[in-house]
Order: sequence, then structure tokens, then C-alpha cells
Amino acid sequence: HMSKRIKQEISLEVTALAQLEKWQQELIHKAEEAAINAYAPYSNFLVGAALLTNTGKIIQGNNQENSAFPSGLCAERVAVFSARAQHPEEKIKAIVVTAKQKTANEYTAVTPCGSCRQVLSEVESNQEQPIHLIMAGAEREIYISDSIENLLPFKFSSKYLK
Ligand code: THU
Repeated sequence: HMSKRIKQEISLEVTALAQLEKWQQELIHKAEEAAINAYAPYSNFLVGAALLTNTGKIIQGNNQENSAFPSGLCAERVAVFSARAQHPEEKIKAIVVTAKQKTANEYTAVTPCGSCRQVLSEVESNQEQPIHLIMAGAEREIYISDSIENLLPFKFSSKYLK
């Protein structure tokens, strides 16, 4: 038959906290700290994000829910939009995301939702430098993606608008 298939591979590094560099561990700590301050009275699912810019600034974000459910925003986008608003000239080197149930003690790794991947992906394309994404759970449950591109194959982008 006449059709062909285009394949794209996605990969994640699975690692442990002790394997990470000091700055990565510190960024995880900042994301955990941010999760505690999440406003998530409806889901009780506390998500924290922390990103590091190329000049060493750390910006935190957490999920901000609302009684009108779709008006809320994920932790990742709160952090990214905050960074873009405050430091528009800076590149984002890395972002950590972590989560925990309100009543739990342990953190769990989550992968960003599609909308957050879309937003992170556009920032990544514009800055022409990959954003490292660290999804941090317990000690031995750390997942790393070297770029956002890796997590969002066949993405929509501004190239279609031209
Ligand atoms: N949430 C995030 O903040 N980031 C994610 O990656 C997944 C989902 C939030 C949205 C909502 O406040 C709660 O988690 C439950 O979906």
C-alpha cells in the first residue's frame, strides 16, 4: 500500500536523588517547598514547580485552583509565566515538578499535562536551548527528560501560523 509511518521516540532517564548534582537537588527542594503552598482545596493534590534561569534565579510555582474549576492553573505554568513576566530576557535551564496528596508525607513524581508541555515547548523553541525537566518523586523515583521537545512530538507550533 501507499502509506508510510513516521515514528518518533520518547525517552526518560530514571535515576535516584543521590545521583543528581547539588543544584538539581536544591531545585527539587524548592519545588517541594512550593507544593506545600499550593492552593488546591478541591483536588487536595499539591503540585510544586521550581525553575532555574541561566543567571541562577529560581522561580517557584504551585497549582492555583478555583471554585470555577477551569479558571485554575497548573504549577508548571504558574512558574513559567511568572518567570517570563519577571525576567523576560532570561533562559530557563531546568524545571522541577513534584506533587503530593495533602495528607501524604511522601512526594510523588508527575509528568506535566499536555497544556503545560505546550507552553514549556514554545519557551524552549524561542530560547533555542533545551529545558531540562526533572520529575521528582521519592528518593529512587526521579525521571529526567533532557528537553520538552522529547515529551511533545508532533506538537503544534507557530510555524503553522505563518
Ligand atoms: N496539576 C498541576 O499543577 N500540574 C500537573 O502536572 C498536573 C496537574 C494540578 C491541576 C489541579 O490543580 C490538580 O493538579 C489536579 O489535577
